[in-house]
Amino acid sequence: MFAVYVERPDRDDPLGALVLGDRPEPQVPDGWATVTVRAASVNHHDVWSLRGVGLKDQYLPMILGCDAAGLDEDGAEVIVHGVIASPGWSGDETLDPQRSLLSEKHPGTFAERVAVPRHNIVPKPSGLSFEAAACLPTAWLTAYRMLFTQVQLAEGDTVVVQGASGGMSTSLIMLARAAGYRVWVTSRDADSRERALQIGAHQAFESGERLPERVDAVMETIGRATWSHSVKSLRAGGTLVTSGATSGDLEVGELRHIFFRQLKIHGSTMGTRDELDALARFMADRGVEPLVDRILPMDQAADGIRAVKDGEVFGKIVLTRVP
Ligand SMILES: NC(=O)c1ccc[n+]([C@@H]2O[C@H](COP(=O)([O-])OP(=O)(O)OC[C@H]3O[C@@H](n4cnc5c(N)ncnc54)[C@H](OP(=O)(O)O)[C@@H]3O)[C@@H](O)[C@H]2O)c1
Repeated sequence: MFAVYVERPDRDDPLGALVLGDRPEPQVPDGWATVTVRAASVNHHDVWSLRGVGLKDQYLPMILGCDAAGLDEDGAEVIVHGVIASPGWSGDETLDPQRSLLSEKHPGTFAERVAVPRHNIVPKPSGLSFEAAACLPTAWLTAYRMLFTQVQLAEGDTVVVQGASGGMSTSLIMLARAAGYRVWVTSRDADSRERALQIGAHQAFESGERLPERVDAVMETIGRATWSHSVKSLRAGGTLVTSGATSGDLEVGELRHIFFRQLKIHGSTMGTRDELDALARFMADRGVEPLVDRILPMDQAADGIRAVKDGEVFGKIVLTRVP
């Protein structure tokens, strides 16, 4: 079958490590099922995989892709949950120390077909297109868990989203707005601030700018560049949720602010199968459509992955199956 994969990762030239071609059909162990991919979406994870980060030699060559929507073996429209728990694990998959994400140990979604445990197959609401549904399993699911599981906010509470343009930031802005929160965004770029307002932010500030008042919660995916501002922007007892470090790990932890104002800091990663199911229904019920930067046929995956690598996206990049 046609697939987009990495054979020899290259730390310095990730796009040079990308291969388009033929791969064997997925193996389907007991309890697993095959999904025919109709749409998949690109994540920063695919760039890391091409660089060899988090990908062991024994699993090469590896088909890329963590997210997909498609048809199950009975022709039902489904979404694929990309967190694969270890055999015998029960409960919250994101807490399984042996878990992996599709394309780390098991072939990913940039292919005609992908095999996953049956438990990982979630019904796709008819109100969501395949392209929209393919955006949900990584960025949107992570945003959903950050906003609704790791912190309890009430309608009208103020939440800051650090960064405006990436798949995570745009999904956080749109979900927080749909939930009735007051949404403030920061960005280095004037165009991105303007676009953040168009997709639901109430106010947009320059990165690092002093805010008019302290806020109830901050959503952090950037790390070193914004951490200090995130901590200083919280009201006493406020919550910082962190799920990424695009600009690198911390130099300054701001401990005095954290203990004196009794802040809560939650790490967050991906989400469970049931949260993906709840997210899909939330989107369909509220009429929220993921922001899609562009849709490309899967044989143009290099263009999509390059745009994510270079930060030249606003929203998600979706890959559709090659006819
Ligand atoms: N833990 C998990 O389960 C999980 C799941 C998904 C993603 N993630 C992580 O979340 C992060 C975000 O991912 P993404 O796909 O949305 O896109 P990304 O391309 O990694 O990040 C784009 C965002 O980062 C901001 N940014 C980048 N460098 C910056 C800098 N030096 N200073 C200030 N802002 C900077 C940009 O804000 P501007 O508006 O200012 O340009 C933009 O909003 C990544 O680190 C990813 O690995 C984690």
